[in-house]
Amino acid sequence: LFLALDLCSAQNYVLSDDGGLGRVFDGIGGLSGGGATSRLLVSYAEPYRSQILDFLFKPNFGASLHILKVEIGGDAQTTDGTEPSHMHYENDENYYRGYEWWLMKEAKKRNPNIILIGLPWAFPGWVGHGKNWPYDYPDVTATYVVNWILGAKQYHDLDIQYVGVSTESMSLSPKVLRNMLDKVGLPGVGIIAADGDWSVANSMILDPYLKNSVDVIGAHYPGTTTITEALKTQKKLWSSEDYSTFNNEVGGGCWARILNQNYVNGQMTATISWNLVASYYEDLPFGRDGLMTAEEPWSGNYVVESPIWITAHTTQFTQPGWTYLQTVGHLAQGGSYIALTDGKGNLTVVIETMTHNHSVCIRPPLPPFNVTSQNATFQLKDGLFTLNLAEDEVYTLTTISTGSKGSYPDPPPSAPFPKVYKDDFDVRNPPFSEAPYFADQTGVFEYYINLTDPGPHVFTLRQVLTERPITWATDADQTISVIGDYYWQNLTVTCDVFMEKMNAGGVFIAARVDKGGQSIRSAKGVFFWVFADGTYKVTNDLVGETVLAEGQSGTEVYGWYTLSLTVKGQYASGSLNGYPLWKNAVVLTPKAGWAAIGTRSFELAQFDNFALVAE
Ligand code: GAL
Repeated sequence: LFLALDLCSAQNYVLSDDGGLGRVFDGIGGLSGGGATSRLLVSYAEPYRSQILDFLFKPNFGASLHILKVEIGGDAQTTDGTEPSHMHYENDENYYRGYEWWLMKEAKKRNPNIILIGLPWAFPGWVGHGKNWPYDYPDVTATYVVNWILGAKQYHDLDIQYVGVSTESMSLSPKVLRNMLDKVGLPGVGIIAADGDWSVANSMILDPYLKNSVDVIGAHYPGTTTITEALKTQKKLWSSEDYSTFNNEVGGGCWARILNQNYVNGQMTATISWNLVASYYEDLPFGRDGLMTAEEPWSGNYVVESPIWITAHTTQFTQPGWTYLQTVGHLAQGGSYIALTDGKGNLTVVIETMTHNHSVCIRPPLPPFNVTSQNATFQLKDGLFTLNLAEDEVYTLTTISTGSKGSYPDPPPSAPFPKVYKDDFDVRNPPFSEAPYFADQTGVFEYYINLTDPGPHVFTLRQVLTERPITWATDADQTISVIGDYYWQNLTVTCDVFMEKMNAGGVFIAARVDKGGQSIRSAKGVFFWVFADGTYKVTNDLVGETVLAEGQSGTEVYGWYTLSLTVKGQYASGSLNGYPLWKNAVVLTPKAGWAAIGTRSFELAQFDNFALVAE
């Protein structure tokens, strides 16, 4: 038999545990946040919302993820928007904000064994006592993080298994956090450090207390490799954030290659995709860098993209706790193979043959390599099998028989954001703190109940930040929430507004807002502002420097006003309480963009009866 196969010129690969096993596998996961990447998901109607969640989390159905990592909201812009903090202010605690709690519960419902991880990207301003730095008061920062873990258990019965202590540029000492976790009776919560590069390993080798505090060394976008020092620590090594690639076939190829090679080259035993699901406006930064796409709650359309099925190739046929064989590696003609066992007689082999151009990830740069079709013979103790491997394929060979390619009837067809849209925010018990489709880019806009309002404005939307958060990506100096269709040109935006800051207070409504995410500071558009000092302004930018019109408005703090802004071709006009206030302001650029609401600074303000009519 051997001879016959050799004649076919198949390369031989031995799969064996004779020399002992490799590392324990910890799973494959997705990351919601860093930031606001699941923002639109919550607004999907049933049954589509549940279907999407099934494709992500349901065992033996789709991606069947083992790990869900979420952002611990810090009120600040963290890539595609802001996520609300559980502590906006020092004496404030609320564990019902945002959608990450809901997402974790939905994941857990489908897979009770899913591993939950939290990581802060940013912090409310008070954590830094006025400085844009969250680590001068490590106890304050650690308490803030530990509160989130305690809140998860107390209010949602969610056990957070790991917490990260930094993302890329900011770092809270794992020692301080370890101490505090132990003090409050959470010795089982593991610490991942430093959610950046591998360099924390160097410090761990020198500092045994640091080493003892850290359970997992987590690197971001490691390019499948690690460093000797990380291996020397004998800690678990994870790619705690990876992928971030457009989710077409090349994105799928990137994901397939790194899922295998993060272990083969770098001994990493978990890989987590940024992001879980592309549920944010596609024209925000890193559009569609999720395992699947669900960015149209208004239509119900979603797309199960290639990375979902690539994930399934491993996730459905292994579980955290399985062990890699030491006999993993590269194939002679390019590509790689891994093998895992549950120690009870089950074996899963995953082979990928991704070519270079079919598997480029967003970062780091991918050095050239060659992959061609090839024959491969895998030799087991009690037999062998030969495969003819084509290029750009993933093969799973397994003793597990429970896997399946789940499916639902096609969702509704894709459709643009509705041209006529309104929201009066009259929701007595909102299921989420945020109103549908509003994507906060700086500041946090929440449903609010105005118990003392004598008139029609009991239920409103309120911007609640009063201080600039400690920022990772840069927030604007104004607050802003965008909504609608990025390609809208001609549009009327109407909204009732209520300022709560005297003198310098101000609010705006806007059209054609051309930027979000980390570029929000330089957003252009048509911004119609009224101020508490009795004036108004029309500016071409969010910073308010390019003034298109200005004058008296008579607007004051604590009064409701109806603003309306119409942009048509090269002209814009605005009205106050139904009366024209300014007209024919010339708008040459931008040509298109989202609608928006916002405030002049980090100040309280309310919004009601929001309405859009697009042409
Ligand atoms: C990461 C960051 C994420 C997101 C991503 C985009 O470094 O942690 O929040 O910005 O880059 O590629």
